[in-house]
Amino acid sequence: TDLDDFIAGLPKAELHMHIEGSLEPELMFALARRNKIDIPFESVEAVRAAYSFSNLQDFLDIYYQGANVLREAEDFRDLAIAYFDRAEADNVVHAEIFFDPQTHTARGISFATVMEGLLAGMGEAKERHGISATLILCFLRHLDEADAFATLKAAEPWLDRIEAVGLDSSELGHPPSKFARVFDAAAAFGLKRVAHAGEEGPPEYVREALDILKIDRLDHGNRSLEDPELVARLASSGMTLTVCPLSNLKLCVVPDMADHPIDSMLRAGLRATINSDDPAYFGGYVNDNYRAAARGRGLGREELVTLARNSFLGSFLDEAEIARHL
Ligand code: ADE
Ligand code: ZN
Repeated sequence: TDLDDFIAGLPKAELHMHIEGSLEPELMFALARRNKIDIPFESVEAVRAAYSFSNLQDFLDIYYQGANVLREAEDFRDLAIAYFDRAEADNVVHAEIFFDPQTHTARGISFATVMEGLLAGMGEAKERHGISATLILCFLRHLDEADAFATLKAAEPWLDRIEAVGLDSSELGHPPSKFARVFDAAAAFGLKRVAHAGEEGPPEYVREALDILKIDRLDHGNRSLEDPELVARLASSGMTLTVCPLSNLKLCVVPDMADHPIDSMLRAGLRATINSDDPAYFGGYVNDNYRAAARGRGLGREELVTLARNSFLGSFLDEAEIARHL
């Protein structure tokens, strides 16, 4: 349709995409074969059939299992290249990518292996597609503070290649305050801060992310809408929300795309953006997310332009680079 073409034609930045969540079943099988790893699935179709989730934890269990095929730097490079090829097709010109080092270091894969592979993929993306990319190191919040500190320590030799730290994994029971000191230490290294909050967790977790972690950007943030005072604060401070419509649908954060709050967020003055989260698991890359939200909520061109503009305004690019993209 015309609107699909319009969406495809919009240059955009992607601000919420977990690289491990871009592992397509085909690549999972190829890497399992290359690394001689058994995976508990018969076929690509069987893997896809297993991607039915009732909540965040359901998904996380299968997502961490999938990452088990990633062993060598080359695997991380191939993973990144596959994402950038898809991103280029969706007119993504800049990407700020999450990675979960603890998922790999816990399996004996070194921090350096992960970094070398991802950086190689990012270098090729720049060369081949002109896509600029940066990395956001996410701490797994179901693990303890000491594990997060050890991860920050492992990152020290790579700090000039890491833009920000983030917080992901199981939200309920793991409030942002658990990582107050790690985020302070990251800030002292000059890293920006983001956190998943208000995906399944209450508005109070969003407040903690703002007040205690001093975040520069809010990942998801859906449940902020339950608290009008919080919405007003997010709006007046110009906080960017990285919203993920297909993720919200697949993880049952919303019952139907017709119930998605993306347009309510814009009307409330929030700087909302559209992102794919874990595209291989949730049935679509960034343009699929724009299309699903546009269909579900009847978004028009003006709202779509705002969403794409917000993706640059909310990025960590410097002002001159943002201006160049607008
Ligand atoms: N890790 C990967 N995707 C995630 C999500 N949507 N929420 C929390 N942790 C994640
Ligand atoms: Zn996420």
